[in-house]
Amino acid sequence: MDLSLIGAPTDVGASVPGCRLGPGGLRIAGIGTALAALGHDVEDVGDLVGPPNPRLSPVDGYRHLPEVTAWNIAVRDAVADALHRGRLPILLGGDHSLAVGSISAVARHCRAEGRRLLVVWVDAHADINTATMTPSGNIHGMPVACLLGFGPEILTGLSGQVPALTPADVHQVGLRRVDAGEKRFLVEQGLSVYDMRFIDEVGMREALRRALADVDENTHVHLSLDVDFVDPAVAPGVGTPVVGGPTYREAQLCMEMIADTGRLRSLDVVEVNPALDVRNTTSTLAVDLVESLFGKSTLLRMTPHPSAT
Ligand code: ARG
Ligand code: MN
Ligand code: MN
Ligand code: MN
Repeated sequence: MDLSLIGAPTDVGASVPGCRLGPGGLRIAGIGTALAALGHDVEDVGDLVGPPNPRLSPVDGYRHLPEVTAWNIAVRDAVADALHRGRLPILLGGDHSLAVGSISAVARHCRAEGRRLLVVWVDAHADINTATMTPSGNIHGMPVACLLGFGPEILTGLSGQVPALTPADVHQVGLRRVDAGEKRFLVEQGLSVYDMRFIDEVGMREALRRALADVDENTHVHLSLDVDFVDPAVAPGVGTPVVGGPTYREAQLCMEMIADTGRLRSLDVVEVNPALDVRNTTSTLAVDLVESLFGKSTLLRMTPHPSAT
């Protein structure tokens, strides 16, 4: 496949700084060469440019809304450009607020091409806060709400249509820290959530089987991979770690089952924080996961694994 790496070195959507270094950490861990070694055509468009992190308090429930908006416009346009050129965009974050721009571009592209969009959101968090519910004002806790049409107009409208997504388009996997308002909102909106309790009791395999059940040849799968999804024992370099996450192998199975659909067409790799990491472990893990998404497997697989269908 023709892949485009897009760096977005910012942490304006977070209050813990450091994921502005994420694109560098991922490149040093070899994301480009690893993907090329799997036989893909890899282009690195370099780093987008945007405003610095002013480290201010929230205003009307949003921290750094003007800066988050500027970064998201840049991300939307770069992702749209890659899709327009027939390439598969890989966003190297940066914090998770950038998924608003990335997924808005993907949603607009799918609308234009008559494709069904399915977003797999793997994360310790639901990221479905609004200005009134948020405990922090951090917009990286709000991208799902924005994409569903709940948020500032400047962000909810980035795809050219509000909402960019409907709840049926989103499947969340790995959640284990959800704020009180978010819990109610997830139910109200009817999102499908495979939280850690589900993964403990039923398993990662069944979570992904259900999340991917209606993927067909007209489906564009977008994966939004917040690396804090993985247990912090394995992925320590994140700003908002939560104990009790998937193991290395559970995370790999999740990636492999997405790969097996053959329908992954866009990807966010976000929240890697090299300033908090240990010897670039978390970027290296993220590269391992991305390799699985793009075809690395222990054995030759001639056809998609039956568990994925
Ligand atoms: N729920 C918390 C908040 O809204 C944490 C969000 C963390 N999000 C993330 N993308 N790491 O502040
Ligand atoms: Mn297309
Ligand atoms: Mn998270
Ligand atoms: Mn997140």
